[in-house]
Amino acid sequence: MAMELTISRAAITADLDDIAACSESPPPGVTRVVYGEADLRARAYLRGRCRELGLQLREDALGNLFARWPGAEPALPAVASGSHIDAIPSSGRYDGTVGVVGALEALSALRRAGHQPRRSLELLLFTAEEPTRFGIGCLGSRALAGVLGPDQLRALRDPAGRSLDELRAAAGFAGPFDAVRLDPGHYAAFVELHIEQGPVLEAEGLPIGVVRAIAAPATMRLRLAGQGGHAGAVLMLERRDALLAGAEIALAVEHAALATGSPNTVATTGIFQIEPGAVNAIPSAATLEIDVRDVAAEPRDHALAAIRAATEAICGRRHVSHQLELLNADPPATCDPAVVEAIVTVCDGLGLPRQIMVSRAYHDSLFMARLCPTAMIFIPCRGGVSHRPDEYADPDHICQGVAVLAHTLARLSA
Ligand code: GLV
Ligand code: MN
Ligand code: MN
Repeated sequence: MAMELTISRAAITADLDDIAACSESPPPGVTRVVYGEADLRARAYLRGRCRELGLQLREDALGNLFARWPGAEPALPAVASGSHIDAIPSSGRYDGTVGVVGALEALSALRRAGHQPRRSLELLLFTAEEPTRFGIGCLGSRALAGVLGPDQLRALRDPAGRSLDELRAAAGFAGPFDAVRLDPGHYAAFVELHIEQGPVLEAEGLPIGVVRAIAAPATMRLRLAGQGGHAGAVLMLERRDALLAGAEIALAVEHAALATGSPNTVATTGIFQIEPGAVNAIPSAATLEIDVRDVAAEPRDHALAAIRAATEAICGRRHVSHQLELLNADPPATCDPAVVEAIVTVCDGLGLPRQIMVSRAYHDSLFMARLCPTAMIFIPCRGGVSHRPDEYADPDHICQGVAVLAHTLARLSA
């Protein structure tokens, strides 16, 4: 490897600690909902860190942040890296944040080594990769790729009924939504560093995964309306219980995933809310949100169709009315072979064993792949655990991931 880079474990650890302290739930859990107080504090911290590095900052109308190190030929499309810092309720401190802090340290290390990129290098912080507030994942990167247009952005509301437009303005982000979209060709390449969120690397004893494909997620929202009533007075045969219809549907969701024949199909009913929510009242309404995925679109879509059919049948039999909304059904992304190859070459040069693998979680890279050649670098996380307070990544693995990222950015920007 031509260039010697020193990755600062101390800087990475301090950044992870400081960002984890920006949380709406007590440690070790982390909760950072987009545009909430903790998210805004963490963003302010990162802006400060980018300024310390002398990066040029821009924020778009959604709060996607772009921090640029101008290259020797600044008119050329830049090479970008980054991830998200929003965190689902009671999750950990590494999901997304490692990719942001890691990109920051990769740029710092390249600066310290005296590297002068030909193409500009840019750190990206994406707004709302998690669907927590607006029900749709990868909000910022989806809008950058033009998959979510101004009208759809204006229609988004949070569970309290507040519009995205109002909330982003209150968070200090302004400008027209139609200026968010980027042209294909805006970037020369995008590389995202992320914890694996699965058990493969740890089980194989490997420090690095190189992602070749990203699973295709789909999300459904199902509203069920039955009939409420007195838990003592209404006889069983007269009931139209919305919860029981939902319970049967949740089991059908599990069955639909198991029945596709693909071991990669997974389906989860992660939200199940009932009304009125009193122990002595029959549930009159229920809202379910269902997440279905596969690395291939076909089995995923097969499971979606099976869930629809089961919903019709169950609701018909139980005399419960339903409204089924498909919030998103994204195609899977294939990573760019040349960017994958660049990462593999860097790993081999650094003597780091690596495995080419798929991502079962989705990432902003799913949408960046529509804009430019994209690939991802995975590092192990303990027990494959993620979206939990006990999520953990070893600092040595993070430093190795950052080293691979920095060398890859150097190659791609040369
Ligand atoms: C991202 O957090 C996902 O749900 O895959
Ligand atoms: Mn996540
Ligand atoms: Mn993530």
